[in-house]
Amino acid sequence: MKPSSDASPEPATASRLRFHTRQTTFRQLEIFREVARRGSVTEAARALHLAQPTVSTQLARLQETLDETLFEQIGRRLDLTSAGEILRSGCEDLFEVLERIDSRLGALHGLTAGTLRLGVVTTAKYLMPAYLGAFCRQFPEVEVQFSICNRNELVSRLEANQDDFYVFSHPPIELDITSHPFADNPLVFIAPAEHPLAGKAGLTWHELAPWPFLVREAGSGTRLAIERAFRVRDWPFAPKMVIASNEAIKESVIAGLGIAVLSRHTLHHGGGESLVELDVEGFPIRTEWSVVHWRQKVFAPAAEAFLAHLGVAAGGDNPR
Ligand code: PGA
Repeated sequence: MKPSSDASPEPATASRLRFHTRQTTFRQLEIFREVARRGSVTEAARALHLAQPTVSTQLARLQETLDETLFEQIGRRLDLTSAGEILRSGCEDLFEVLERIDSRLGALHGLTAGTLRLGVVTTAKYLMPAYLGAFCRQFPEVEVQFSICNRNELVSRLEANQDDFYVFSHPPIELDITSHPFADNPLVFIAPAEHPLAGKAGLTWHELAPWPFLVREAGSGTRLAIERAFRVRDWPFAPKMVIASNEAIKESVIAGLGIAVLSRHTLHHGGGESLVELDVEGFPIRTEWSVVHWRQKVFAPAAEAFLAHLGVAAGGDNPR
């Protein structure tokens, strides 16, 4: 109904089309979400297997339809504007609901289907494929997206609600999360097989101190555990070399560059025969792997099936 001439003026927003009546497609929103996550059209195009001009065109159409600028270019990176941030967080919710509808429809037909998104810290990549392999054989209709990054990067993925579950050995307890411990993660001192300390029992700090110590990068959960363990024992933390990869640390230790502390899981996957665990007083450092999710997370059937597969129940913290 047209307002009568003496009616008070409509607020400016009333002339805007409501979001769902605009010609915006789910595909455009999916493209927008990928660019927002990666901060780059090129990387989003690669992840979506699209040509870069297709991504740019769809983004331009979306901005035109919404009559909003969604990104601003800061150096080489695309950052979200306030409008872009509103759309990004709405898109995360929207796609979560769509995936839930999809998997519930599948469940109607007795299928546990849909997508399971799992983010794990670098070191858990040695452990999780075995769990996933058995899960995928049991639920072949479930598509798994598996992301691997260091602890700090995984905390950012969790904060952005990018995955269903996250595997940490040091969950960020300051967030409103639920953690379910499900496996041990012992951290051990390693040295090359022919090292003079190999085979000696009950090594002390004084015996270890002369050897160069190699350590993972800041932001790594392994490093965090080592720093805490050293602090508790009053040992100085003075790494000789910082290396951002478990594999490269193993290779460096084998090459005689020093000794290190790594998860025992890393030794079972290549290089283990050229390395030995040193028997150090108070070691291994005992940590455990936990699968983590937002406390309020609503699970699709595929996600529930995965928790059950790990032997943990959704709902509350589940100490072993
Ligand atoms: P990292 O994490 O792979 O980042 O070192 C391992 C851990 O949290 O124990």
